[in-house]
Amino acid sequence: MVSQGELLRRFGSPLYVYDADVVRARYARFVDAFDHQPLHVHFAIVCNKNRYLVRLLASLGAGIHANTPGDAFAALAAGVAADRIVYSGTNLDEQDFRYLLDRGIRMNLDSLDQLRDRARFGRAEDRTEIGMRFLIDDEDRPNRIGITLGELPEALAIARAAGLRITGLHMYAGTNTRRARRFIECMERLVDAAMQLPDLAWIDIGGGFGVAYEDDEPELEIEQLGRDVSARMRTLSKVRGPIELIVEPGRYLVGAAGSLLTTVVSVKTHGGRRYVGVDTTVGNIVVPSVYHTRHRVELVGDAAPLLDVPTDVCGNTTHSRDYLGRNLKLPEVAPGDVLRLRDVGAYGYAMSSHFLNRPRPAEVVIDGAGVHLTTRRETFADLVATQVDE
Ligand SMILES: Cc1ncc(COP(=O)(O)O)c(C=O)c1O
Repeated sequence: MVSQGELLRRFGSPLYVYDADVVRARYARFVDAFDHQPLHVHFAIVCNKNRYLVRLLASLGAGIHANTPGDAFAALAAGVAADRIVYSGTNLDEQDFRYLLDRGIRMNLDSLDQLRDRARFGRAEDRTEIGMRFLIDDEDRPNRIGITLGELPEALAIARAAGLRITGLHMYAGTNTRRARRFIECMERLVDAAMQLPDLAWIDIGGGFGVAYEDDEPELEIEQLGRDVSARMRTLSKVRGPIELIVEPGRYLVGAAGSLLTTVVSVKTHGGRRYVGVDTTVGNIVVPSVYHTRHRVELVGDAAPLLDVPTDVCGNTTHSRDYLGRNLKLPEVAPGDVLRLRDVGAYGYAMSSHFLNRPRPAEVVIDGAGVHLTTRRETFADLVATQVDE
């Protein structure tokens, strides 16, 4: 397998690197956990729209979950068929509705207003089955997305009047949920509500399947969760006939597959702390500035003893939150050494931005012996490419 140093020599630093075999293994483990049929796994492209990975997941049998029409566009651009895309999002305007309806994309809407808008903007040739996002938490907790149990009869009435059929309910347990119990509690409420649908055909338990970012964090017990979800689906199907189970994992499938390689530029120590300056920034990967020490950072190369000095890994801007890691333990490092941020396959490149004006890194996918450049490195010109002088 090509070394990480070799990758940087070929593609430059910093660099996002994904391992296709990790995605295959995560997908297989996830799918195997659920024995309910029919099961439809829709990869949440919001967390990573890398075309190589989207195509890989599609080739393994996954559809796509789209949070926005732009997500749907990215999936279609990667070659995913429209009938393999499920949209579940919020606040669509007329143009958004038409984009999705014209392509026959299945939708979960999140409010009575959106359902009325669907009726208003729809045409006779549009698909008539619709799903509704269900507000899974107590109504007194602030949560803006989904309809309540009390609103369900009105939703059914609006749909009926418009010639639509509500054939499924959707939920979202919250991102990076590592407690299997949370999914089951939410699902129980969802299934209770779904019993009120005369045309029930599917249950969509959304995404949010969590991963461990620290050595001592417990993993989500996906096998246990899959068994529990499948058992509930079997019970439901006994009462209501065959019901499709839809799941929308993002982070779970690709999070561990991604690394961000970055090169050390400077090292300084003062006040008992070591500051390791690198050639990337939180503009290239937003998560550390939001969640601080979320990604494990390792020195690439031969194993070396960790120094007992609190170490911050600092980005290449003076922004006060430009730290890729804080209070870490790292070995001796010197300019030119390479560090690896682990588990950046989800919400890494996807959340990067031009804030701080450091062009975004390239992305490569390692697939067996193959190394594929999938996103070119940005240049300064990309930072101003959308500006016009009218
Ligand atoms: C409705 C829905 N499904 C799935 C996902 C994917 O979430 P995760 O990557 O946590 O699995 C999201 C993320 O925002 C979402 O909003």
